[in-house]
Formats: sequence, C-alpha cells, structure tokens
Amino acid sequence: MLELLRSRRSIRKFQDRPLTTEQIETLEEALLRAPSARNLKSWEFIFVDDRELLQKLGKVRGGSSGFIGGASLGIVILGNEETADTWIEDASLAAIISQLAATSIGLGSCWAHIRNRDHSPQETAEKYVRELLGIPDPFRVLCVIAVGFPAEEKPFVAKKDLPFGKIHRNRF
Ligand SMILES: Cc1cc2nc3c(=O)[nH]c(=O)nc-3n(C[C@H](O)[C@H](O)[C@H](O)COP(=O)(O)O)c2cc1C
Repeated sequence: MLELLRSRRSIRKFQDRPLTTEQIETLEEALLRAPSARNLKSWEFIFVDDRELLQKLGKVRGGSSGFIGGASLGIVILGNEETADTWIEDASLAAIISQLAATSIGLGSCWAHIRNRDHSPQETAEKYVRELLGIPDPFRVLCVIAVGFPAEEKPFVAKKDLPFGKIHRNRF
C-alpha cells in the first residue's frame, strides 16, 4: 500500500493512445468498490473517451483543467445530493480510489476540480459540465479525473520531506 501511495503523483501529460478494455474495467470496478456513507452509493460516473468532448472538458477551467484535453479518459465524478448529504465525501473517496487504481496499473491521473469553481465570470464550471454532458438534477459534479498513459515522470516525495508536524498526539 505504501509503495502505491508513494508512486501516485498528479500526472498532467499523457501519451496519445487509448486505454485497454481491461484497464477501463479495472477503473470501473475500483470506483464501484468505493465506500460510501450508509452504503448509499450516492455517486455516479461518466466515462468520457470521445476526443472532442475531452477537449471541451479541458476548457472548463482554462489552465487548471487543460490537461483533460490530452487524456485518454476523463472520469466525471458525480454525486446525488438528494441521496446523501455526504455526497461530497462519497464522491471524493471514489475519486481518489480511481486515482490509486490507475497508478496500480501503470496509468497516470490528475484531479480537475469542478465544484465551487468558475468557467467564466458568467458561468460556473459545474454548469458548463452539466450542459456539455447532459447531466440532470439532482446530480452534482465534483471533479473530473483525467487518466492516461503517463508522458511525464514525477519523483517520489522523500519521507523526510513529508509534513510530520501536521500529526498531533492526543491533543492538538
Ligand atoms: C480536491 C483537489 C482538487 C484539485 N484540483 C486540481 C485542479 O483543478 N487542477 C490541477 O491541475 N490539479 C488539481 N489537483 C491536484 C493537486 O494539485 C495535487 O494533488 C497536489 O499538488 C499534490 O501533488 P501530487 O498529487 O503529485 O502529490 C487537485 C487535488 C485535489 C485533492
């Protein structure tokens, strides 16, 4: 587990080749095994592999999301806010599990945040994604996880560089 956590880094540059069916199935299974509050499974996922849609998704937040355009897959992570008031937590756990699963099979990934972000001064990032992908109420959009074969290498963060001061014992 620690090996996996050490090797997961945000990858924003991808090779131009599609994922295999087996890789997609691994990501699907990982997502559907994510824990959720009261096991309500408030999440839903859209697997986007259409190049034109990926490029449009990449424009959702300018420089903060452009890497989606070069990914082989964008996993749009949704939550049903009527199913559970913990939809953000449920969806976040699914998102990071998909990233760890991607790392475990040699793929790179990066989270592009959508919730509470803007596409433009007139339009939220969430509205842009909802309209682009036809997402109905009451589904909310948390983020897009861009996935692909890595085209950049990122070093492990050395253990000595971790912020151990953030861990407190017994009292703050
Ligand atoms: C909630 C959340 C939102 C993030 N949003 C973005 C984003 O919109 N764009 C981006 O390039 N990276 C985004 N990231 C990735 C972080 O920048 C990255 O995880 C952080 O810099 C640590 O780097 P590492 O993932 O390589 O360890 C997000 C990560 C999280 C957990």
